[in-house]
Formats: sequence, structure tokens, C-alpha cells
Amino acid sequence: QTGHTTLDYGFVNTASTKSAITYIDGDQGILRYRGYPIEQLAKNSTYLEVAWLLIYGELPSASELESFDERIRRHTLLHEDLKSLFSALPPTAHPMSVLSAATAALSTYYESESDPHNPEHVELNTVRMLAKLPVIAAYAHKKSIGQAFLYPDNKLSFVDNFLKLNFGVMSETYESNPVMTKALDLLLMLHADHEQNASTSTVRLVGSTGANQFASISAGIQALSGPLHGGANEAVLQMLGRIRDSGESVERFVERVKNKEEGVKLMGFGHRVYKNYDPRAKLVKEAADEVLEALGVSDPLLDLAKELEQIALEDDYFKARRLYPNVDFYTGVIYKAMGFPTRMFTVLFAIGRLPGWLAQWREAITDPQTKIGRPQQLYTGAAVRNYPGV
Ligand code: SDX
Repeated sequence: QTGHTTLDYGFVNTASTKSAITYIDGDQGILRYRGYPIEQLAKNSTYLEVAWLLIYGELPSASELESFDERIRRHTLLHEDLKSLFSALPPTAHPMSVLSAATAALSTYYESESDPHNPEHVELNTVRMLAKLPVIAAYAHKKSIGQAFLYPDNKLSFVDNFLKLNFGVMSETYESNPVMTKALDLLLMLHADHEQNASTSTVRLVGSTGANQFASISAGIQALSGPLHGGANEAVLQMLGRIRDSGESVERFVERVKNKEEGVKLMGFGHRVYKNYDPRAKLVKEAADEVLEALGVSDPLLDLAKELEQIALEDDYFKARRLYPNVDFYTGVIYKAMGFPTRMFTVLFAIGRLPGWLAQWREAITDPQTKIGRPQQLYTGAAVRNYPGV
């Protein structure tokens, strides 16, 4: 399940990374965080407990989890000056761009405490990132809808604090909704890590140069924003909306996908590793029915997504290419039912993935095998030649 391949070029093949954090079996549709199957964690654990598991390697004791939660609460405030960064950005700024920019800016407040080889700095900034990224995300949301920023309310749980920062307003008393709290906690957990995906590889690559956690996470956020990666959850909702608004039948849309018209893809389907049903997608699909019913929301887009899935799973084109729903296929319907704007969906993915990024960054910088990232190249350019007249 782990291993290095050292190619005959005499250097370690950077394409294969050794890690003890997450195990995926794409053919079997298996996902385990530090050996625990995702299905068991989804049923019995919480996002913060899983964050500890990924970062420290073992499930926390009750007192460890309590002190972790307490430390995170104590770091939720952003420096007041940092808030002016948000007003410097255009109101139309994509929340993922705001998230990455504010994360990079965060590092400017802690430059004297960001030595990647100082364990105290690493510990402190791990907690700072876990505490502050959700606040930055909520401010990106508030900015996109022109509402005032709230201060964190540390009497609330981690997830409720985040929900209040997003949906609370100055003039009202915020009422937590246990259905939303439980559903969001599950979704954040399901996104918490996923082995060497594009954004995690970016975080490790940037960290391998000696850059600090803030810089590495900011780069990972940008990598995640692409529609082929984390941006897919936003693209799925846009795809479903276009099908609904066009009046086009699902069958007709699937035909256009198979004909590869203008690069039309079935967003939320397919995966670099899973050539079977993404185990997270199964869990999200189950949650979608429960959450929408509990919230009293009926969304035709959920029915459309199920119809699309049904047709694709029975179609030889998708079967031959082993294309199944991935984690992004159903998440957007739940986020929408909660009241998040579509452009916040990938931000929620980033909040979920943060513990995995931090765990993988810490593993990379403490692994003596880690060399500065330098992916291999196979040169395909011109053979050696002389400058004219030489
Ligand atoms: C995430 O790596 C991770 O772990 C990522 C992630 C994580 O947790 O970090 O799991 C999160 O990013 C999930 C993926 C979200 N992206 C999407 O849903 C976008 C749509 N999916 C595709 O773009 C695609 O499936 C990829 C990029 C995800 C994976 O592509 P692959 O495995 O490199 O496959 P490919 O591009 O080589 O395609 C193989 C064939 C091609 O057809 P042919 O050229 O053989 O005729 O399958 C086709 C592709 O055209 N294909 C699709 C398709 N995905 C692949 N056709 C239609 N719709 C799709 N979604």
C-alpha cells in the first residue's frame, strides 16, 4: 500500500509519494483515514475528531479532543487590519480567490512564528489555520452578498460557529439548526483528505521548498479551484441548472456528453483513481435525501441528478470508461438546500480538506526522504543545434 519507485535515472520518482495518512483503492472503492474506513468514521466520528486523527495519526482521547477544540476557539479572531483586505477586493470576486488571497495575507501577521522546522510554530499555525480559514471563508461569503461580517461566537461548536458566521445577521439572534450542523459536519469530514490529489500534491510541493503552512495552503486553495478538481461541485450545479433551464431531456444531454460536444463533460463523474463508485458519493447521496427532507426542501435538481446518474450508470460509454459519480456529484444539492450560494461550494470543499492538507504538509516536511519537489520531465523538444553562423 505504500512504496517509492526509484527509476534508473538515479533519482526518486517524485510521481510516487510515500504517505501513511490516507489509503484509497480505486477499483474496490475503498477510502480509509489512518486505517479507519470512511463509512465507520462517517457514522461515528466528527470533523474535528477526524482532523486530529489525520494530523496526529490516532483518534484523540476525550480530553485531547476537548483541548484541541478549545485551542481552535481561542484562535478564531482575525487581526482587525486583515479585514480591510476584503474591502480592497471587488464585490464580484470569486470566494475561492478571496480565500486564497486572505490565507496568503494571514502569513504576513505571523512571519516571526512561521519556521517550518520549529515544532511550536508548526503546531501554533496548524491551529491558527483550522480556526481562521472558516472565518475567512464566511467573510468571503458575506462579502459576496454585501452583508456585514460577524465576530466568531466561541460559545458555539466549531460547525455552528461557522454556520452562524455565514447565515447570522447583526439584527437577529442566530438559531442553530441541528440538521444543518450534522450534515455540514459530515460533508466536511468526507472531504478531509484524499491522498495525493492535485491540491494536496500542490501543498506538499510548495512545502517541500521550505515555504510556510500559510503559503502552502494558499497554493492548495488555488489548485482546488479548478473545475476538474474541487471546482467540480460548483460546475455540477451549473450543469444541472442548464439542463433544467434548457428544457433539454437528460437523455439528449447524455448523448451530447458522449459526442464530446464543445468538451461537454458529465461534471461530478469520473475520477483519476476511483474506477468504481466513490465511497464518499454514496454517503453524500444518502445524506442528500435525509437533509432535504429534514429541511423541508424539495429540489428538482436532486431528482435530475439521480436521473442523470441512473442513465449514465446503465450506459456502455460510461461503463467502458469506468465513470461513476465522485464526491462532487451530490454535495452541491445539499449546500444549496442549506442556503450557500453556488460559488461558495468549493470554499466548503477547502474547509473540509484543510486538515488533510495540514497533515500531508507536516508529514512531508518531517520526512527525511522529502526532497524539493521536482516532477520528472521527458524532453520532447528540438535536438541540439547551432545558432546561425556559429
Ligand atoms: C475531485 O484526485 C482526487 O482525489 C480528487 C478528489 C479529491 O477528493 O481531492 O476526489 C476531488 O477532484 C473529484 C473529480 C471532480 N472533477 C469532475 O467531476 C470533473 C469531471 N471529471 C473529469 O474531468 C475526469 O473524470 C477527471 C479529471 C476527474 C479524471 O479524468 P481521468 O481519470 O484523467 O480520465 P480521462 O480524462 O483520461 O478520461 C478518460 C475517458 C476520456 O474519454 P476518451 O478520450 O477515452 O474517449 O473518460 C472520459 C474522457 O473524455 N471522461 C468523461 C468524464 N471524465 C472522463 N467523459 C464525460 N464526463 C466526464 N466527467
